[in-house]
Amino acid sequence: MAFKQRVFSGVQPTGNLHLGNYLGAIVKFVALQERYDCIYCVVDLHAITVWQDPVELPRATREVTAAFLACGIDPKKHIVFNQSQVAEHAELAWIFNCVARVGWLNRMTQFKEKAGKDRENASIGLYSYPTLMAADILVYRATHVPVGEDQKQHLELSRDIAQKFNNDFADSIRAHGYDEAFFPQPEPLIQGPATRVMSLRDGSKKMSKSEPSDYSRINLTDSADDIAQKIRKAKTDPEALPSEEKGLESRPEADNLVGIYAALAGTAKADVLRQFGGGQFSAFKSALADLAVAKLGPVGAEMKRLVQDPAYIDSVLADGAQRARVMASDTMKAVRDIVGFVHS
Ligand code: TRP
Repeated sequence: MAFKQRVFSGVQPTGNLHLGNYLGAIVKFVALQERYDCIYCVVDLHAITVWQDPVELPRATREVTAAFLACGIDPKKHIVFNQSQVAEHAELAWIFNCVARVGWLNRMTQFKEKAGKDRENASIGLYSYPTLMAADILVYRATHVPVGEDQKQHLELSRDIAQKFNNDFADSIRAHGYDEAFFPQPEPLIQGPATRVMSLRDGSKKMSKSEPSDYSRINLTDSADDIAQKIRKAKTDPEALPSEEKGLESRPEADNLVGIYAALAGTAKADVLRQFGGGQFSAFKSALADLAVAKLGPVGAEMKRLVQDPAYIDSVLADGAQRARVMASDTMKAVRDIVGFVHS
């Protein structure tokens, strides 16, 4: 049986959203609405794998939701909700904890990075994070998952879990009359320039909410003045811009700024260089600042307007959760049959 094509992706409600989240994820989510049924989730269960202040967490959850809406995600045609409101995510994750092998999880590079040297003190949730991510996707039997490069390994693990479940329970799946490929093999969708937006202070590091200097990133709610100033102060090198893409090799800061321009303008880096190549950085930077303010200004303003009305945001999340729950509980009923749980 062919699975219905469906997109699922998640964003963690931790800290401020920045240009990297916008270009790397949200803009792509918006575009996919044309071609797929989409489910976009604010993954608060994932957020608490590291400590979250209970006063900050709801604020951050509403802010990510506001960003989705401000950027043009349509919560009526598609589904927008926060993960903790659909208990089936956690329920399926438990079953996947019993399907996935310790050896598989031990290979996850994100856990090694996030746990750092003090691995003994990391939460068990941080370790089993990828099985919850597999459950997020597979509880809706989603087929396509827009993610950054850094999540590709987790998506591969989701495919391994889907396949092992289908194999381990093959007889039971058949006996209950379900299609033998019960879970699909979800595919990553990674496309376009600036899939990875780098720090404005160091072109070799990803733009990140945890970097101490606020000059390293552009937040979605920054004022026009802040945006312009951060771009003006962004690190560059003394040379003029090249006319061809090859000239960006081993110039990570220049490459990053050109990539940001291309992504914001919806063109290719080659086009940007055709326009600005040979010119000074200062001229390019002021064009980039104008473009960034023109694109991000309205998004930030709309986000600020929306977060003033938490009751509205909460109603969007409640409506999305209700529709998500219908699909997720269907999958879980079948999973209970397949695993052999007595249920009513
Ligand atoms: N791990 C993802 C990130 O940090 C967020 C996420 C959670 C996700 N569940 C997901 C992404 C399911 C795609 C699909 O970016």
